Amino acid sequence: MAIKRTWWKEAVGYQIYPASFMDTNSDGIGDLNGIRSKLDYLKELGIGFIWITPIYESPNVDNGYDISDYQKILRTYGTMEEFDLLLKEAHEHGIRIIMDLVINHTSDQHSWFVESRSSVKDDYRDYYIWADGTIDGPPNDWVSIFGGSAWEYDETTNQYYLHVFAKEQPDLNWENPRVKRELFQMIDWWLDKGIDGFRVDAISHIKKAPLETRSTEDPFDSFKNVPGIEKHLEELRDIFKKRDILTVGEANGVSAVEAHQWVGEKEGYFNMLFEFDHISLWNKDEQETLDVIHFKQAITAWQTALADGVGWNALYMENHDIPRSVSSFGSEEIVFRQTSAKALALSFLLLQGTPFIYQGQEIGMTNMPFASIDDIDAVDTKNFYYEMIQSGVEPEKAMHVIRRTARDNARTPMQWTAEEYAGFSKRQPWMVINPNKQEINVLDELNDSNSVLNFYKKVIQLRKENEALIYGSYKLYLPDHPQLFVYSRRLAEERFVIIINLSKEFASADLPENVQIEDWDLQLSNLNEYKIHQHTIFAPYEARVYKHK
Ligand code: NOJ
Repeated sequence: MAIKRTWWKEAVGYQIYPASFMDTNSDGIGDLNGIRSKLDYLKELGIGFIWITPIYESPNVDNGYDISDYQKILRTYGTMEEFDLLLKEAHEHGIRIIMDLVINHTSDQHSWFVESRSSVKDDYRDYYIWADGTIDGPPNDWVSIFGGSAWEYDETTNQYYLHVFAKEQPDLNWENPRVKRELFQMIDWWLDKGIDGFRVDAISHIKKAPLETRSTEDPFDSFKNVPGIEKHLEELRDIFKKRDILTVGEANGVSAVEAHQWVGEKEGYFNMLFEFDHISLWNKDEQETLDVIHFKQAITAWQTALADGVGWNALYMENHDIPRSVSSFGSEEIVFRQTSAKALALSFLLLQGTPFIYQGQEIGMTNMPFASIDDIDAVDTKNFYYEMIQSGVEPEKAMHVIRRTARDNARTPMQWTAEEYAGFSKRQPWMVINPNKQEINVLDELNDSNSVLNFYKKVIQLRKENEALIYGSYKLYLPDHPQLFVYSRRLAEERFVIIINLSKEFASADLPENVQIEDWDLQLSNLNEYKIHQHTIFAPYEARVYKHK
């Protein structure tokens, strides 16, 4: 079968959380010029596109995911001219830019909502979802993903409005054609500027069940992938498909079984999806380690559902909403830290799909030892902490949970150097810096051929040079092995096998027939060189990539 070459299949992506990436105007907050100053670094790493989380005007209740003006740049990040310059220079570096598209909700400061809440008769009233209260208070029992009721009472008109996230993030009413028209115009406006695509936020929530629907076991069922959503998504797809862009939907609640419909090569709504299955496997409270068998099942379900040209995957182990992967899936212990970071790199970079590296992941950044709740910014984490305290949990116990679960673990400033402010800024940043900047930073890792950073570069290069690692088929071996993740990629005669010990203990396995043979070449390893034998012992977090001669 001839390969249909596509730029977004071949490129490796890099997610930038601008507030914490690089500060050039010394206000302690990252900015657009900071991103521009690091384009050489990103190019060197082998990055083909960056995804920038929201940089639009926003009161920043949810760090930019509450947009008050879609067509303005937030002052702390820079100006529209600086954005245009970034786009131009990124393109000159061969790096494309995809933007975050937040269209499930706006900020309560957006002019549409300001109008909407002013009167039941207002022209913008139906841009949002308003309902009368009941005897029990809110219109129904739906709860917000960020905690508490999903409804907020508004005195001015004596009605409630719906918010799936924070109360300052009212949900847009997608049943109103005017809302869609405005959003689609805004999308076209950005695309006309020459950006290369979108990561589409919270898109599985745009359709709501009838308001009479009561919550079920899954408290978010009434606004997660609700039947009827197809109609809205088809209209959105028709806007996207006029252009050669990358679209990746954030699709909480979409299963591998439905994936073909969402990302099918022909009629799919997006090019790829961020699924939630493999990430939610690490249970932050009770279980301290990764369940390797379930992890493999979750990954494999998506790899096989979209195989044979059906669709394409988005691959990730980290983003701005989850703790650092070394801390959750690998090990922070000094003997394992770097090895496990490299093992995790091989657990996603060489699968079928487009990899997204989250800033700092490529140097093996870890979770932050937050001292108190005052160090936390994320609105959902604060809500969660105070709910625990109210229900009688001891503050230290609550902080223990917070340290393991907080989204802010991923939002500490990028560690460029070992200097006081990590080379991120010249002054105290908006968010605490991880004290391990002394051991984990870009500058030192650039100079160390064994660093996590240089390992990432090698893996990216290997993927670039071998089509089987991009377009090849995926096969899982040893599905029931509790420590090893073994998979192959194959395109015609080109064959690779990747073997990763995802545990802290030695692992042994009888490798399957077709990966035992003598003529396999070791391409890459995070430990010393070994040869494949039928019965092989793998050191903790050891990972190897072999190519058939
Ligand atoms: C998902 C984003 O990744 C997250 O950061 C945000 O809080 C919610 N959507 C709401 O927009």
